[in-house]
Amino acid sequence: MEALHAEEDLQSQALIWNHMLAIVDTMVLKCALKLRLFDAIHSHTSTNHQISLAELATSLTIPPTRISTLHRILRYLAHMRLLNITDEETYTLTIAASVYLREGSEKSHAPVVRYLIEEDMLAAMHGLDSYLVEEGMALPIERVRGEKFFEWAGRDEGLSKRFDDAMSCSTRSMIQAVVRGRGMVFSGVKVVVDVGGGTGNVGRAVVEAFPAVKCIVYDLPHVVKEGKEGEGVVFQAGDMFVSVPPADAFLLSRVLHDWSDEKALEILMRCREAIVGEEGKLIIVDTMIAENDSKDMQHIKLAYDILMMTYVGGKERTEKQWRSLLLQAGFSRCAFTRIMALQHVIEARP
Ligand SMILES: C[S@@+](CC[C@H](N)C(=O)[O-])C[C@H]1O[C@@H](n2cnc3c(N)ncnc32)[C@H](O)[C@@H]1O
Repeated sequence: MEALHAEEDLQSQALIWNHMLAIVDTMVLKCALKLRLFDAIHSHTSTNHQISLAELATSLTIPPTRISTLHRILRYLAHMRLLNITDEETYTLTIAASVYLREGSEKSHAPVVRYLIEEDMLAAMHGLDSYLVEEGMALPIERVRGEKFFEWAGRDEGLSKRFDDAMSCSTRSMIQAVVRGRGMVFSGVKVVVDVGGGTGNVGRAVVEAFPAVKCIVYDLPHVVKEGKEGEGVVFQAGDMFVSVPPADAFLLSRVLHDWSDEKALEILMRCREAIVGEEGKLIIVDTMIAENDSKDMQHIKLAYDILMMTYVGGKERTEKQWRSLLLQAGFSRCAFTRIMALQHVIEARP
């Protein structure tokens, strides 16, 4: 009995230590990215991207007195399943690190890491407890910055660019997943307005995949001025809470989870008012918390929910919550499709 109790107690300790130490993963990742460690290993082509400690130390200009420190960082990265250690004590990248953490990879998520650990973003996370207990307190990020996130992005070109970079990392994979998982969604669409479409990364990917579709990327003035028009893609500046241009289809990609139910409802109603034609529809590509999510997927979505709450006052929604919101906005027919991405595709018609 006592042994069982001791075992349970140790498991409890392990559980809380793992939670408390989660920040070490993020900071070691940050350290590796700052040193461009993943790129250094990948560019070591002479031995098939396998590199020894000494070779890596030379490549990263690590002083001899810090080689044992590098060794410990590498051991931790291997533990995080980002590196493999061969029998000959050389290092290679795992597929995840090679595809998603090299700066040179078109799918690199390095900008997301940089953005998440910015000083003000971390300071906002420190404000969660006050936000919880102080009624009427502004969002944690507003307390840090003295302004709303999108106002800050409107004033600070650097942040706007870092945010756009962080968003665009996953655009290509997400659109590929939409095409594979729900390719029919754009069939028959003539013009789609990509509401909150940023600098057009999603719009361009949609038009590339569906050349018959024309896309109007609609976003705030400071954002669309950075957009590059191209075949089938034009930009229009405006405020989605005021109005959106009329079209037969609207795309809301990773937009509604930025907003509270009240604000999301306003956006949906503006789209509903602007839909033209019998076959008009709304295409939402966004997070949905699903009962059959894997444990990993559930963790990501619930963590994202906390980030949305802290930075923009948004939330992640279950199918029931999405249905209720869409119904209130005048969309009575909705279909939900799981795709191979963090997002679902939700098609809604009046
Ligand atoms: C999370 S980003 C999504 C960008 C893009 N749809 C994607 O999936 O990559 C949200 C976008 O909403 C835009 N946005 C915020 N407030 C807006 C408003 N009032 N009117 C139009 N766009 C707005 C932001 O500028 C930003 O580009």
